[in-house]
Amino acid sequence: MALKEEIARRRTFGIISHPDAGKTTLTEKLLLFGGAIQSAGAVKSNKIKKHATSDFMEIERQRGISVSTSVMAFEYRGAKINILDTPGHEDFAEDTYRTLTAVDSVIMVIDCVKGVEAQTRKLLEVCRMRNTPVIVFINKLDREGQNPFDLLDEIEKELKIRVRPLSWPIGIGKQFKGVYSLYEKNLILFEASGQKLSKEKVVIDNLNDTTLEEYVGEDFTKQLKTDIELIEGVYDKFDTERYLRGEICPVFFGSAVNNFGVRELLDCFVDIAPPPLNRNSDKRAVNVDETKLSGFIFKIHANLDPKHRDRIAFLRICSGSFERNKNYFNVREERNMRFSNPTAFMAQEKNVIDVAYPGDIIGLYDSGNFKIGDTLTEGEKMQFKGIPRFSPEIFKYVVNTDPMKTKQLQKGLEQLTDEGVAQLFTKKNNNRKILGTVGALQFEVIQFRLKHEYGASCTFEPLNLYKACWVTGAKAKLDLFIDEKIHHLAIDKDERLVFLAESAWALQMAQEKNPDLEFHFSSE
Ligand code: G4P
Repeated sequence: MALKEEIARRRTFGIISHPDAGKTTLTEKLLLFGGAIQSAGAVKSNKIKKHATSDFMEIERQRGISVSTSVMAFEYRGAKINILDTPGHEDFAEDTYRTLTAVDSVIMVIDCVKGVEAQTRKLLEVCRMRNTPVIVFINKLDREGQNPFDLLDEIEKELKIRVRPLSWPIGIGKQFKGVYSLYEKNLILFEASGQKLSKEKVVIDNLNDTTLEEYVGEDFTKQLKTDIELIEGVYDKFDTERYLRGEICPVFFGSAVNNFGVRELLDCFVDIAPPPLNRNSDKRAVNVDETKLSGFIFKIHANLDPKHRDRIAFLRICSGSFERNKNYFNVREERNMRFSNPTAFMAQEKNVIDVAYPGDIIGLYDSGNFKIGDTLTEGEKMQFKGIPRFSPEIFKYVVNTDPMKTKQLQKGLEQLTDEGVAQLFTKKNNNRKILGTVGALQFEVIQFRLKHEYGASCTFEPLNLYKACWVTGAKAKLDLFIDEKIHHLAIDKDERLVFLAESAWALQMAQEKNPDLEFHFSSE
């Protein structure tokens, strides 16, 4: 197959949700449809349960398992579908944010009982930064959830997005009868089908079909007709172009655990979701169908097993084709690298591959050379943009407890932060090192790994900070700001200036007093 055809048939996306909304269940059902797994329950090991927070080795063990489910690829209706797993555990939110830079679109799962939740909000913000097209799947319709119109209003208001239902539920909870597909214009009746892949019955082809009442009764028929009239009146017509621009999110209703509404979602997804598109580098726009390879590393997974200290770097291919044993250029390091065992991921299996195309994610074995954000090319010096760092939420000073191992500590901190485990800042007034993370768990991970991989010991001293934000502006203004706030400033690993705000008030004051400076809550 020619490169262009390979590109056109690829759909690379991530499923995002607040924990427990049904992401794992939906992933599993999609894999069942693709024939990539044979039974439900196969992906469950991937999930880091909330109660496991106190035992990070257990979480790492599960994360180890999850390397093979980091990317799940399968074929469906001629399309090659790559699902990128996003960790549900909120302590790994940075991992998720970075993974979202490697997808072309997103399916967002919302629990119809709980509506929009904290993680949904954050994740959607990341999607909005990049105008990523989003399809919404409202899950658990077999439970007594909120009124669907209220849910849509909540999603629009809370997430500041426009939605357009493409299916509509008839009843909810115990009364749930099925959904009417506005996309395919038919009705699908609900039967709780457990873990089997039963085909839902398609009963009618249009709303005026007189048999409708036989199936759902007079009241539900009336309600459905009124609802659909309202939808057509209130919401804009569905426009694929607007969806692709990230301006409008189509919405589906269903029940993942009952395998209801999942096939409709998948069919529509394959039809409308974008194939890999052109991407920007710091030098130029890179066309996806250029013959030369380009790609970037968005995730590095370290193996904590002392017998296998290897790491896997995940490369998203952006143009050209990747070939095994060919030389590729690591732009940051300015040197060629060759990979004899690049792996592709098919659901639970890892296979060595000979060739891969744009949209594909491959795993490259790495002994510590890669950093998150590295670009691979066939020699051209350009870097892909858009792997942001987000303002961390928890900060601690690093205290070296073994002065004989200062060098090891330094190296360990450098490398672990290159992997994206945490962000490293250096205080401007006294050179003290500060680690910033999104989750508390990362501190345990770092302490453990510093000891076992680098032989360095450290403890942490709590630091009460509200936020760290990157500050930019004209040099003269920045110098004044630095003089005034020297005790509250640090630099990050790329020598960028970071303001450490102790409170929302301190941040607001700094912003008000320095209208010429810009305060950024993420950095690229
Ligand atoms: P997550 O990955 O987003 O965290 O969620 P996950 O799929 O693990 O689903 C969370 C819980 O919600 C699971 O129950 C799952 O079975 C249930 N669930 C998923 N889809 C539906 C649905 O359509 N209807 C209903 N009623 N429940 C659904 P659990 O008890 O936490 O786990 P398990 O013991 O069932 O595995």
